[in-house]
Amino acid sequence: MLDRHEASDADDSRYLARGPRVAIRAVTREDGAEFTRLVRASAELHHPWLSMATTDAGFATYLDRLESGPHLGLLVCLPEAGDGIAGFVNLNNIVRGGFQSAALGYGAFASTAGRGYLREGLGLVLDYAFGPLGLHRLEANIQPGNAPSIALVKRHGFRLEGFSPDFLFIDGAWRDHERWAVTAEMRARP
Ligand SMILES: CC(C)(COP(=O)(O)OP(=O)(O)OC[C@H]1O[C@@H](n2cnc3c(N)ncnc32)[C@H](O)[C@@H]1OP(=O)(O)O)[C@@H](O)C(=O)NCCC(=O)NCCS
Repeated sequence: MLDRHEASDADDSRYLARGPRVAIRAVTREDGAEFTRLVRASAELHHPWLSMATTDAGFATYLDRLESGPHLGLLVCLPEAGDGIAGFVNLNNIVRGGFQSAALGYGAFASTAGRGYLREGLGLVLDYAFGPLGLHRLEANIQPGNAPSIALVKRHGFRLEGFSPDFLFIDGAWRDHERWAVTAEMRARP
Protein backbone atom coordinates (compact mmCIF):
# COMPACT_ATOMS: atom_id res chain seq x y z
CA MET A 1 0.00 0.00 0.00
CA LEU A 2 1.19 3.53 -0.69
CA ASP A 3 1.93 5.75 2.25
CA ARG A 4 -0.57 8.51 2.83
CA HIS A 5 0.58 11.64 1.10
CA GLU A 6 1.45 14.32 3.57
CA ALA A 7 -1.07 17.04 3.02
CA SER A 8 -3.68 19.07 4.74
CA ASP A 9 -7.36 18.46 4.02
CA ALA A 10 -7.41 21.77 2.19
CA ASP A 11 -5.08 20.87 -0.67
CA ASP A 12 -4.94 18.34 -3.44
CA SER A 13 -1.54 16.79 -2.90
CA ARG A 14 -2.93 13.69 -1.25
CA TYR A 15 -4.61 12.73 -4.53
CA LEU A 16 -2.84 10.47 -6.98
CA ALA A 17 -5.10 11.67 -9.78
CA ARG A 18 -8.07 13.99 -10.08
CA GLY A 19 -10.86 14.22 -12.63
CA PRO A 20 -13.79 16.61 -13.08
CA ARG A 21 -15.83 15.14 -10.20
CA VAL A 22 -13.73 12.56 -8.35
CA ALA A 23 -10.17 11.97 -7.22
CA ILE A 24 -8.29 8.88 -6.10
CA ARG A 25 -6.03 8.53 -3.11
CA ALA A 26 -4.55 5.76 -0.97
CA VAL A 27 -6.80 4.43 1.79
CA THR A 28 -5.51 5.13 5.30
CA ARG A 29 -6.32 3.93 8.80
CA GLU A 30 -8.00 7.29 9.44
CA ASP A 31 -10.65 6.35 6.86
CA GLY A 32 -11.90 3.43 8.96
CA ALA A 33 -14.91 5.03 10.64
CA GLU A 34 -16.33 6.54 7.44
CA PHE A 35 -15.50 3.49 5.34
CA THR A 36 -17.16 0.96 7.66
CA ARG A 37 -20.19 3.22 8.13
CA LEU A 38 -20.61 3.36 4.33
CA VAL A 39 -20.15 -0.41 4.01
CA ARG A 40 -22.81 -1.04 6.68
CA ALA A 41 -25.22 1.28 4.83
CA SER A 42 -24.50 -0.51 1.53
CA ALA A 43 -25.29 -4.10 2.55
CA GLU A 44 -28.10 -4.41 0.02
CA LEU A 45 -26.03 -2.94 -2.85
CA HIS A 46 -23.05 -5.19 -2.12
CA HIS A 47 -24.93 -8.45 -1.56
CA PRO A 48 -23.98 -11.02 -2.90
CA TRP A 49 -21.19 -9.45 -4.95
CA LEU A 50 -18.83 -8.21 -2.30
CA SER A 51 -17.93 -8.75 1.31
CA MET A 52 -16.22 -5.77 2.96
CA ALA A 53 -15.24 -4.75 6.50
CA THR A 54 -18.14 -3.50 8.62
CA THR A 55 -16.28 -3.05 11.93
CA ASP A 56 -13.11 -1.31 13.20
CA ALA A 57 -11.47 -4.71 13.69
CA GLY A 58 -12.46 -5.83 10.21
CA PHE A 59 -11.08 -2.60 8.72
CA ALA A 60 -7.78 -3.07 10.58
CA THR A 61 -7.50 -6.60 9.15
CA TYR A 62 -8.31 -5.22 5.70
CA LEU A 63 -5.53 -2.61 5.93
CA ASP A 64 -3.11 -5.18 7.36
CA ARG A 65 -3.76 -7.35 4.31
CA LEU A 66 -3.23 -4.43 1.92
CA GLU A 67 0.00 -3.41 3.65
CA SER A 68 1.48 -6.88 3.99
CA GLY A 69 1.27 -7.88 0.34
CA PRO A 70 1.70 -6.48 -3.16
CA HIS A 71 -1.60 -4.64 -3.06
CA LEU A 72 -2.73 -1.03 -3.37
CA GLY A 73 -5.94 0.17 -1.75
CA LEU A 74 -7.43 3.28 -3.36
CA LEU A 75 -10.45 5.37 -2.51
CA VAL A 76 -12.61 7.26 -4.98
CA CYS A 77 -13.28 10.56 -3.25
CA LEU A 78 -15.36 13.66 -3.87
CA PRO A 79 -13.05 16.67 -3.47
CA GLU A 80 -15.95 19.11 -3.78
CA ALA A 81 -17.82 17.33 -0.99
CA GLY A 82 -15.20 17.44 1.74
CA ASP A 83 -13.23 14.48 0.37
CA GLY A 84 -16.23 12.21 1.04
CA ILE A 85 -15.73 8.60 -0.02
CA ALA A 86 -17.78 7.47 -3.05
CA GLY A 87 -16.13 4.09 -3.50
CA PHE A 88 -12.93 2.11 -3.53
CA VAL A 89 -10.77 0.34 -6.09
CA ASN A 90 -8.13 -2.11 -4.93
CA LEU A 91 -5.28 -3.38 -7.04
CA ASN A 92 -4.67 -6.83 -5.62
CA ASN A 93 -1.80 -9.21 -6.24
CA ILE A 94 0.37 -6.85 -8.24
CA VAL A 95 2.87 -9.02 -10.09
CA ARG A 96 5.88 -7.41 -11.76
CA GLY A 97 8.49 -8.95 -14.11
CA GLY A 98 7.10 -10.05 -17.42
CA PHE A 99 3.50 -9.97 -16.16
CA GLN A 100 2.95 -6.40 -14.86
CA SER A 101 -0.58 -7.31 -13.85
CA ALA A 102 -3.06 -6.89 -10.98
CA ALA A 103 -6.58 -7.98 -10.04
CA LEU A 104 -9.15 -5.28 -9.31
CA GLY A 105 -11.66 -5.24 -6.49
CA TYR A 106 -14.08 -2.32 -6.30
CA GLY A 107 -17.35 -1.05 -4.99
CA ALA A 108 -19.54 2.02 -4.76
CA PHE A 109 -21.54 3.03 -1.69
CA ALA A 110 -25.32 3.21 -1.56
CA SER A 111 -25.59 6.94 -0.85
CA THR A 112 -23.69 7.91 -4.02
CA ALA A 113 -23.98 4.85 -6.33
CA GLY A 114 -25.32 5.15 -9.86
CA ARG A 115 -24.03 8.68 -10.48
CA GLY A 116 -21.03 7.79 -12.61
CA TYR A 117 -18.47 8.33 -9.85
CA LEU A 118 -17.09 4.82 -10.17
CA ARG A 119 -16.94 5.13 -13.95
CA GLU A 120 -14.79 8.26 -13.57
CA GLY A 121 -12.84 6.82 -10.64
CA LEU A 122 -12.01 3.58 -12.42
CA GLY A 123 -10.79 5.66 -15.36
CA LEU A 124 -8.39 7.50 -13.04
CA VAL A 125 -7.22 4.17 -11.60
CA LEU A 126 -6.52 2.82 -15.11
CA ASP A 127 -4.57 6.00 -15.97
CA TYR A 128 -2.56 5.62 -12.78
CA ALA A 129 -2.00 1.87 -13.15
CA PHE A 130 -0.93 2.03 -16.79
CA GLY A 131 0.97 5.29 -16.27
CA PRO A 132 3.00 5.89 -13.08
CA LEU A 133 2.61 2.31 -11.80
CA GLY A 134 3.79 0.83 -15.09
CA LEU A 135 1.33 -2.06 -15.15
CA HIS A 136 0.29 -3.68 -18.42
CA ARG A 137 -2.85 -5.67 -17.58
CA LEU A 138 -5.71 -5.42 -15.09
CA GLU A 139 -8.30 -8.09 -14.54
CA ALA A 140 -11.68 -7.97 -12.83
CA ASN A 141 -13.40 -11.17 -11.73
CA ILE A 142 -17.15 -10.62 -11.80
CA GLN A 143 -20.12 -12.85 -11.05
CA PRO A 144 -22.16 -13.42 -14.22
CA GLY A 145 -25.31 -11.77 -12.83
CA ASN A 146 -23.58 -8.57 -11.75
CA ALA A 147 -24.83 -6.29 -14.53
CA PRO A 148 -23.61 -2.95 -13.09
CA SER A 149 -20.09 -4.28 -12.61
CA ILE A 150 -19.96 -5.79 -16.10
CA ALA A 151 -21.26 -2.50 -17.55
CA LEU A 152 -18.57 -0.62 -15.67
CA VAL A 153 -15.64 -2.66 -17.01
CA LYS A 154 -17.07 -2.89 -20.54
CA ARG A 155 -17.27 0.88 -20.59
CA HIS A 156 -13.50 0.96 -20.02
CA GLY A 157 -12.71 -1.53 -22.76
CA PHE A 158 -12.26 -4.73 -20.73
CA ARG A 159 -12.88 -7.95 -22.68
CA LEU A 160 -14.25 -11.25 -21.44
CA GLU A 161 -11.39 -13.74 -21.19
CA GLY A 162 -13.00 -16.72 -19.55
CA PHE A 163 -15.13 -18.31 -16.87
CA SER A 164 -13.84 -19.51 -13.49
CA PRO A 165 -16.18 -21.88 -11.59
CA ASP A 166 -16.17 -21.63 -7.77
CA PHE A 167 -13.61 -18.83 -8.01
CA LEU A 168 -14.13 -16.72 -4.87
CA PHE A 169 -15.66 -17.34 -1.44
CA ILE A 170 -18.13 -14.50 -0.92
CA ASP A 171 -20.95 -14.27 1.54
CA GLY A 172 -20.90 -17.93 2.57
CA ALA A 173 -20.42 -19.63 -0.79
CA TRP A 174 -17.88 -20.27 -3.55
CA ARG A 175 -19.10 -18.11 -6.42
CA ASP A 176 -18.50 -18.59 -10.16
CA HIS A 177 -16.88 -15.58 -11.85
CA GLU A 178 -16.23 -14.27 -15.32
CA ARG A 179 -12.71 -12.99 -15.90
CA TRP A 180 -12.65 -9.61 -17.61
CA ALA A 181 -9.35 -7.92 -18.43
CA VAL A 182 -7.88 -4.88 -20.12
CA THR A 183 -4.34 -4.17 -21.26
CA ALA A 184 -2.71 -0.79 -21.62
CA GLU A 185 -2.99 -1.08 -25.40
CA MET A 186 -6.69 -1.99 -25.39
CA ARG A 187 -8.15 0.42 -22.96
CA ALA A 188 -11.06 2.52 -24.10
CA ARG A 189 -11.90 5.97 -22.86
CA PRO A 190 -15.58 6.33 -21.92
C1 LIG B 1 -20.46 -2.07 -9.76
C2 LIG B 1 -20.58 -0.75 -9.02
C3 LIG B 1 -19.24 -0.43 -8.38
C4 LIG B 1 -20.93 0.34 -10.04
O1 LIG B 1 -21.06 1.53 -9.30
P1 LIG B 1 -21.97 2.71 -9.83
O2 LIG B 1 -21.97 3.76 -8.80
O3 LIG B 1 -23.29 2.19 -10.32
O4 LIG B 1 -21.12 3.13 -11.07
P2 LIG B 1 -21.47 4.21 -12.12
O5 LIG B 1 -22.61 5.09 -11.69
O6 LIG B 1 -20.18 4.85 -12.47
O7 LIG B 1 -22.02 3.34 -13.37
C5 LIG B 1 -21.17 2.38 -13.96
C6 LIG B 1 -21.93 1.65 -15.06
O8 LIG B 1 -22.86 0.73 -14.46
C7 LIG B 1 -24.15 0.91 -15.03
N1 LIG B 1 -25.14 0.52 -14.04
C8 LIG B 1 -25.35 1.07 -12.83
N2 LIG B 1 -26.35 0.44 -12.22
C9 LIG B 1 -26.77 -0.52 -13.06
C10 LIG B 1 -27.79 -1.52 -13.01
N3 LIG B 1 -28.54 -1.67 -11.91
N4 LIG B 1 -27.91 -2.37 -14.05
C11 LIG B 1 -27.14 -2.25 -15.16
N5 LIG B 1 -26.16 -1.32 -15.27
C12 LIG B 1 -26.00 -0.47 -14.24
C13 LIG B 1 -24.18 2.37 -15.36
O9 LIG B 1 -25.17 2.66 -16.33
C14 LIG B 1 -22.78 2.56 -15.91
O10 LIG B 1 -22.67 2.08 -17.22
P3 LIG B 1 -22.58 3.09 -18.45
O11 LIG B 1 -21.32 3.88 -18.25
O12 LIG B 1 -22.51 2.18 -19.62
O13 LIG B 1 -23.82 3.95 -18.37
C15 LIG B 1 -21.73 -0.78 -7.96
O14 LIG B 1 -22.92 -1.22 -8.57
C16 LIG B 1 -21.42 -1.66 -6.76
O15 LIG B 1 -20.76 -1.25 -5.81
N6 LIG B 1 -21.92 -2.91 -6.80
C17 LIG B 1 -21.76 -3.82 -5.67
C18 LIG B 1 -20.32 -4.23 -5.46
C19 LIG B 1 -19.75 -4.90 -6.68
O16 LIG B 1 -20.46 -5.52 -7.46
N7 LIG B 1 -18.43 -4.75 -6.85
C20 LIG B 1 -17.73 -5.37 -7.96
C21 LIG B 1 -17.53 -6.82 -7.73
S1 LIG B 1 -16.86 -7.57 -9.20
